[in-house]
Amino acid sequence: MKGVVLAAGKGTRLYPVTKVVPKPLLPIAGKITLAYAFDQLKDCGVREICVVVGENEPAMREALGDGHQFGIDLQFVRQTDPHGLAHAVGFAKDFVGSDDFVLYLGDAIYSRSFAEHVERFRASGCANLNLVKPVEDPRRFGVANVDGERIVKLVEKPQHPESNLVMAGMYVFGPQLWEVLPDLTPSLRGEYEITDAIQLLVDRGELVLAGVYTGEWFDTGTLDSFLETTRFLVQNRSLVGAGAQVHGEIGSGVVIGEGAELDCDSIEDAAVLPGSKIQVKGSIRHCILGGEVSSSAGLDGVIRYGNVQ
Ligand code: TTP
Repeated sequence: MKGVVLAAGKGTRLYPVTKVVPKPLLPIAGKITLAYAFDQLKDCGVREICVVVGENEPAMREALGDGHQFGIDLQFVRQTDPHGLAHAVGFAKDFVGSDDFVLYLGDAIYSRSFAEHVERFRASGCANLNLVKPVEDPRRFGVANVDGERIVKLVEKPQHPESNLVMAGMYVFGPQLWEVLPDLTPSLRGEYEITDAIQLLVDRGELVLAGVYTGEWFDTGTLDSFLETTRFLVQNRSLVGAGAQVHGEIGSGVVIGEGAELDCDSIEDAAVLPGSKIQVKGSIRHCILGGEVSSSAGLDGVIRYGNVQ
């Protein structure tokens, strides 16, 4: 079993911070985002991992190296342009070879192990197993219609969902995936969708299973979700990294990166990146802050990296 982590996106929803620090390398609760992916994969017994990178390749190679600092064997492949998850995974075909593999979306974080689902894939001999999660309003997700544990249909963002199980960012595939990828066409939003690839497997009569995940699943790709994930991970405490200097009160759930300097009098849900210098004295509200940022009662929704636009 190998691992493929998709991390080639542009991270536009976290601009401008992700113009400076690629989203997969952003520290979240004191640990880079991809380290959570690596830990989960290791927990499933996966050691050989390929990260699909994009324009962020130089920074990613520099930060992650050959993976030994994470206890894994790491390789990189470059997606030419981000044209969707099924496009991205295609670049890992040579790396995977004839093995089975776990496909993990680089910005997903899970509260506990999903190893039992990888085990279920192995034991069932299916072509594909997808982590799914019941949610109250599935309309903005890929939705899995099931018959028992078998997926019979996938529907992207249905107006009238027939199931409350949504695709939760972790997939296990056998080599059958490579046979259907060439038949994919772009979706209405112009992307090669992994859900379309899985639908092709279903249409071919392959055994495609849903693994219902009972832990928490976070997608860290927006300001709100990034801060929500952070709060969950630090369990509403605050976390001040080594060498950081904080002058003044900070609230709960706030994370101040290593070596950062923060001169407070108000700030709110905050994730302050390592090494940044933040002067406040009045406001800055929801925050992800990096570089040198000051406010005298300014800023509000805020994702800021110094003067980067
Ligand atoms: P998204 O969150 O959909 O895209 P993104 O990371 O570019 O962010 P934004 O929408 O803010 O611009 O992607 C989910 C994960 O999949 C993320 O880890 C990046 C990765 N990805 C690729 O590797 N290649 C792709 O073509 C796409 C669309 C995403």
